[in-house]
Order: sequence, then structure tokens, then C-alpha cells
Amino acid sequence: MSTEKFDVAVLGLGGMGSTHVGAAKQSPHVNRIYGYEPDPERRKQRAEELGIIPADLPEILANPEIKFVSIASSNNTHIELAEAALRAGKKVMCEKPMGDTLEEATKLIKLNQELNGFLQIGFELHYSTLYMKAKEWIDQGIIGDVVNIQTRYLCTVHHAKGSWRSKGKGSFLIGEKLSHYLDAQRWFMGSEPDTVFSVSSPRVLPYVEYHDNHNITTRFKNGGVGVLIFTAYTAESYHGEQYPDLLAKQQDDGHVLQYLIIGTKGMIETDVFRRRLRRWTFTDTGERLDSARAEEINYTMAEDNAWIHNTAGQNIRILELVANGKAPEVPPEDAYQTMRFCFAAGESEATGKIIRMDDLPDWR
Ligand SMILES: NC(=O)c1ccc[n+]([C@@H]2O[C@H](COP(=O)([O-])OP(=O)(O)OC[C@H]3O[C@@H](n4cnc5c(N)ncnc54)[C@H](O)[C@@H]3O)[C@@H](O)[C@H]2O)c1
Repeated sequence: MSTEKFDVAVLGLGGMGSTHVGAAKQSPHVNRIYGYEPDPERRKQRAEELGIIPADLPEILANPEIKFVSIASSNNTHIELAEAALRAGKKVMCEKPMGDTLEEATKLIKLNQELNGFLQIGFELHYSTLYMKAKEWIDQGIIGDVVNIQTRYLCTVHHAKGSWRSKGKGSFLIGEKLSHYLDAQRWFMGSEPDTVFSVSSPRVLPYVEYHDNHNITTRFKNGGVGVLIFTAYTAESYHGEQYPDLLAKQQDDGHVLQYLIIGTKGMIETDVFRRRLRRWTFTDTGERLDSARAEEINYTMAEDNAWIHNTAGQNIRILELVANGKAPEVPPEDAYQTMRFCFAAGESEATGKIIRMDDLPDWR
């Protein structure tokens, strides 16, 4: 295990940028932490608030002590920043989605391959215990072959009017918000999507131009099917700071974030708002197939981040990979397939057609 230490930089010092800074502070491999925002005033102010060193982008790119750069800026800047950082020889972690188009994501993948670079995309459900444990059960064969995955995600988005998110258009939310949950469907199914059909009704949110609801149905190449149902406005609104135990508040106010992963020998349920992971086993009794609840794991409020949204743990792990000269665990080629999946759902909504994945561009 390497004890190497290096300097790092975080590009984009908003909400997620502060999580990236927090993770860097916890990593045993990090010396100095630099931070970049395009506006010098904001850069200085945010660096002060986060206790890091403000720096301009050219300064960061030219500094050989800075070995690792993480990108937590708004989506439309990811490609440009990732490309600049890779060209400067930095190891890079970039938040999802990789970019705005499949073409630019393809270019980034090719550049990374040419440079033999390190580029990992931020799909932190792969590092969140609730989903890791479900995946572990699937890989152990406990529920047999996965045949059906149902994801329900009902929430309130609180994108402030005029923010970069609220300016998203069309199927923006699929890449921005649902990419994690389609990515996890690919991960759990262990197979790539084959055909995708998605519909979206007229929106309820009055001040956005993106679709605020999605019903995405997928047939995977192994024959399994998936469905993801999402609404952005149904659950009761809240202001986080008023509620010390936010999840308890949200448990019965319309919030749902649940997977049912159904296999030939059992089922797994992940339930964020009930802080619960459960599984069932199916047994052939001779007369019929019986189902019985076999296991339930609960976790506490203190464990929420690690269980459901472990960006910090993900980034700490990525820094460990970099220090040890290891390859990314979620490489851009894999993240690209999730991006294609998101685009297929968007295209289906725009055209009313079933989209065959083979008809979409691929980076290869
Ligand atoms: N993995 C996750 O679960 C997760 C969760 C939240 C956000 N994100 C992703 O993280 C990114 C940031 O989201 P956020 O919630 O922090 O948004 P935010 O609006 O709070 O912060 C974005 C920051 O980027 C800065 N910025 C804009 N252009 C820039 C540029 N060219 N270079 C550097 N900085 C620039 C903005 O000034 C702002 O401070 C998004 O891509 C988002 O999709 C991921």
C-alpha cells in the first residue's frame, strides 16, 4: 500500500465541490488542496470558506505537484476541464454526466486512451453500502438470475429558479439525476440495455423546460427487463436545515427511492427512506413457488451518507487508486454506456419510438 502524498485541485466549488474538498481532507494521500472557480472573487471567497488555496486554472494545470484534479463544476464545463486536465498530465475524477453529447464524450474517451490517462466518472452508488450489499447478494447468486428491476424515485427537486439546473431542457433530468439509477440498473442486471421506451407527461413544475417526470422501460440483452418511474415534484417540500433527521421526516411524506431487484430465486429491496435493505427467497415446495422474507438490514441516520450517497468514500477510494497507480473502478468507457442509456430514454420521449441501443452511436 503506497504512502505517497500529492497535491490536488477541485474545479468548481459549489455544493458538490465542498464534498470533494471534504473527501480530499480525509485522504491520507493529500498534501495541499487547491480550488478553482472562474470568477476570482467567488474563488477567493469559497476557498476561504472551505479552507483551501485559491488558484487560477492555468496555474493548477502547470503545477507539477498537483497530481490529481476532481471536477465538480456545472455539467456543460466537464468535457473542457477534463480534457485540459488530462492533457496537463493530471489524474482526473469527473462528476457525472461526462458531457452534454455522446460525440464529445467519445472524444474524451479517445483522448484518455491515447494519453493512457486516469479518468474516473462519479457514479458513487458503486461505493454506497446499500447498493454494494445488494450487488454482493446478486453476485453470490442468492436471488438467482436477475430478471426484473423496478426503480421508483419520487421526490421534490428544489432547483432554484434561474440556477444552471433549472435552465436544463428536454430530457436534461435523465442525465443529471436519473443517470445514477439507470447506471445501477445496468450494474444489477449485469447486462447492457437492448431496447428502451420512455414516456413523459406534460410537466407540473411551472418554471422549467425539462421534463419533470419519466417512465423508462428497458429490455436488457440478457432478456431481463427494467422500469424506472420518476416524478420530481410529488413529495412534500422541505428545507433540510429544519429537520435534523431528514429521512425520518421524508419516510411518509411522499418520498420514495426504492429498488425491487427480482431474480429467479428471490428478490432484493433497497429502500432509502426506510433505511432498509431486505431480501426474499423463493422456494419450490413441490406444490408451488413460495416466497419468504429472509433477511433485513437497517442502518442509522449517522450512516446515511455511507449507505446511500457515498461521494466522499468514493473520492477517498479514487485517491487511493491514484496513489497506488491502479486503474479507475468506474472507467469512462463504462460511464459512457450509462450515458447512451440516458440518451436512448431521451430520444424515445422525443420521438415516441422504441429505441434500439444498437442504433445509437458507440464510442468504439
Ligand atoms: N454524484 C452525485 O450524486 C452528484 C450530486 C450533486 C451534484 N453532482 C454533480 O456535480 C456537479 C456540480 O453540482 P453542484 O450541485 O455542486 O452545483 P453547484 O451549482 O452548487 O456548483 C457548481 C459550481 O461550478 C462552478 N463553475 C461554473 N463554471 C465553471 C468552470 N468553467 N470551471 C470551474 N467551476 C465552474 C460554479 O460557479 C459553481 O460554483 C454537477 O455536474 C452535478 O451533476 C453529482
